[in-house]
Amino acid sequence: MCGIIGYIGNKPANEIIFEGLTRLEYRGYDSAGIAVLDDGKIHVKKDIGKLHQLKDLLLTNFGSTSSQGIGHTRWATHGRPSGFNAHPHGDSRGTLMVAHNGIIENYMKLKNRLVQAGFIFSSQTDSEVLAHLIAYHYHNNLEEAVLAALKEVEGAYAIAVIHRNHPDRLVCARKESPLILGLSKDENFIASDVTAILQHTRNVIYLDNYEMATVKREGVEVYDFSGSRIEKKIKQVDWNPIAAEKGGFPHFMLKEIFEQPQVIRNTIGGRTSEEEGKIYLTELGLSGPDIFKTQRIVIIGCGTAFYAGCVGKYLIEKLVRIPVECDLASEFRYRDPLVDSNTLVVAISQSGETADTLAAVREARKKGAKVLGVVNAKESSLTRDVDGLVYIHAGPEIGVASTKAYIAMLTALTLLALLLGKIRGVLTPEFVTDQIRELKRLPQEIEKILAEPDQIKALAKKFMNAKNFLFLGRGINFPTAMEGALKLKEISYIHAEAYAAGEMKHGPIALIDKDMPVFVVATNSATYEKLISNIQEVNARSGTVIALCSEGDKEIYDHAHQMITVPNVSEILSPIINVIPLQLYAYYVADLKGLNVDQPRNLAKSVTVE
Ligand code: M6R
Repeated sequence: MCGIIGYIGNKPANEIIFEGLTRLEYRGYDSAGIAVLDDGKIHVKKDIGKLHQLKDLLLTNFGSTSSQGIGHTRWATHGRPSGFNAHPHGDSRGTLMVAHNGIIENYMKLKNRLVQAGFIFSSQTDSEVLAHLIAYHYHNNLEEAVLAALKEVEGAYAIAVIHRNHPDRLVCARKESPLILGLSKDENFIASDVTAILQHTRNVIYLDNYEMATVKREGVEVYDFSGSRIEKKIKQVDWNPIAAEKGGFPHFMLKEIFEQPQVIRNTIGGRTSEEEGKIYLTELGLSGPDIFKTQRIVIIGCGTAFYAGCVGKYLIEKLVRIPVECDLASEFRYRDPLVDSNTLVVAISQSGETADTLAAVREARKKGAKVLGVVNAKESSLTRDVDGLVYIHAGPEIGVASTKAYIAMLTALTLLALLLGKIRGVLTPEFVTDQIRELKRLPQEIEKILAEPDQIKALAKKFMNAKNFLFLGRGINFPTAMEGALKLKEISYIHAEAYAAGEMKHGPIALIDKDMPVFVVATNSATYEKLISNIQEVNARSGTVIALCSEGDKEIYDHAHQMITVPNVSEILSPIINVIPLQLYAYYVADLKGLNVDQPRNLAKSVTVE
């Protein structure tokens, strides 16, 4: 998704901003631009393309060493990717520049009015309206002009503004799109994501909705939208910037897949007592009575987070014996959902910034439900809009295709289910102790899979030219099949569909022929024999079966064409281990095809628009 960085200090702004934008590349973008203020004149350079292609434009031939400016990476929503549509956008009199993340919903109405007032638009974007609107309201006070403009705007935004009459400041504001201020000596920053400025400072202020800031070389001031000054806490970022680099792996995605054993250890770390059969989730924010009065749980999320939620549904229904529904956040928010104060809504998100998930949470809270966030990104918007939290502790995930966050979500949901089951008297301490032991064994079992990736790579080579793929699973591993298909289509652009194996005969079986490889998640489970029947149905139509099976399974050899074996674990924990070969498979196919694994086409890391 789009990224913003602003700089004011004593170094060449375009260099600092360019470097910051490269750290935001992982979010996905199609064009980029930088604007600086130099001696009362604005210099702006922007174009379609990746930063390495725009290096000459934005660095070498920039033509200014100004120490104050803003930059942006754009991911197209309104208007195709192009130089004209790239940010920053200026007003037609050349007085100011704006970088914007989010969507201005009433932009057509505002644009028509501004065009009638004589403003000339040069892009198809919704964002450009902000530049003209601020210019329209400008009477020598930039902050007042920004506030007056934002009062007219409907939608979501994080904005950064420079104005030729104000060489001492940047102005920024946010509503529903993340924005932070980075503080340092004689220089200060604006960024949509903390990774953009970690090289320079770890002291940050997280702006909340309806807050605006004036950022000067010597300091920052934060205001609410009525113009009153607010005191904000300065927070120390404890991330290691090295953790956001590749560490010897060719891609972030591969690095993140290999980090998964450690991620599980981190998610579990300090939250369990094996002897007492206890789980501690200290930020849960739910009292004993809250947990007892819960009659229904609704899990919401998007993409991979949704599939983690689908596993969560099986886990919680089995271990807590409460009815659970899992819904896509983008559907939930608009279906007038039946939730009330006896419903617990669990919102899952890696970024904590997904617009659909945030809106679904607001909807649930409006209806009186308690909301629990299962989140990776600390201080993200979601963490500030929930009653309680279970942080998943996956660390920064850079690859657009989510891997380690999924594993951490599953681990955190297992802890949550065990805790709720224990509190509600469904589970005995002995059972919880056994599960904690099993959970703690998973990292070393995953290490065994990661130690032998060549077999999976060979399979990827064999099937890399298939045009279509089917993924089948049952029960708690049906979401594993869905996540495996999502990974493959996201990064290799191969059409992949997932089905509950028992549903295949109701339609998708018509697709099967010799050119259709079928991945079947067939590890030990209560429905193993049923899966064998499903595999036979594929064989009878000349399909090729690649079975994911448990170590020691001899029977599967009689039915599948290719096998990937995984260590034996209990069925409820099997999704955590079964997804690893599917992630590796998708990775190798995309890499063998020479595709951009970490930044697949059309995708963004964090989808902060609807
Ligand atoms: O940050 P979130 O977990 O809320 O993101 C949700 C989805 O956008 C995300 O999982 C997406 O589907 C990924 N590309 C999956 O790899």
